[in-house]
Amino acid sequence: MHITSLSASPSERSRSAWLTQFALTRLEGRSTRHDDILVRQLPAAALLAADVQESAIAAAVRAVESADLVIVGTPIYKAAYSGLLKVFLDLLSPDALRGKLVLPLATGGSPAHFLALDYALKPVLSALGARHVLDGVFATDAQLRRHDAGGFVPEPDLIARLDRALAPLLPRMRARPEPALSC
Ligand SMILES: Cc1cc2nc3c(=O)[nH]c(=O)nc-3n(C[C@H](O)[C@H](O)[C@H](O)COP(=O)(O)O)c2cc1C
Repeated sequence: MHITSLSASPSERSRSAWLTQFALTRLEGRSTRHDDILVRQLPAAALLAADVQESAIAAAVRAVESADLVIVGTPIYKAAYSGLLKVFLDLLSPDALRGKLVLPLATGGSPAHFLALDYALKPVLSALGARHVLDGVFATDAQLRRHDAGGFVPEPDLIARLDRALAPLLPRMRARPEPALSC
């Protein structure tokens, strides 16, 4: 299974990007290919001008279009997904997500916005053809505490919700065979 992850926070030390990477570690050994897109690292002028010919943007769009599973990670800003995410999603063709599995992930400061994935992001994913959207996972900042050594510490409940969202994928993904023992 080819997995493309899309992280759409402007922050360098991003909770939602960390959660996206953490989801990938829960699937470790099961993907045949993985592409990681940090939208904030794409060339800003080309992104804002919707220049899909620009090489890094063209490669990012191809990585989404060729994926079997797209993991979309975003912070919640002003009760919705980030503007950075919308700028990138607007570059995709209307059927870019058709036939793909999509896992929406978000982090937010307030539990009041836990439905933002449902009311704000899912309609956009649907407009891009997505028909197989896994349960979204929303984490508050309190559920993903900063670790002194860098990174974050997820609460057990968050790990359980993430694993539940990923569970429907597991039968579709072959675990990589163990390397043969040499004698
Ligand atoms: C400009 C801005 C707007 C925000 N708006 C909201 C909001 O409406 N609801 C919410 O729950 N959190 C809001 N937050 C908090 C972030 O969503 C939260 O800290 C999130 O974990 C940040 O993710 P990131 O580290 O990946 O950028 C906002 C933060 C910023 C900087």
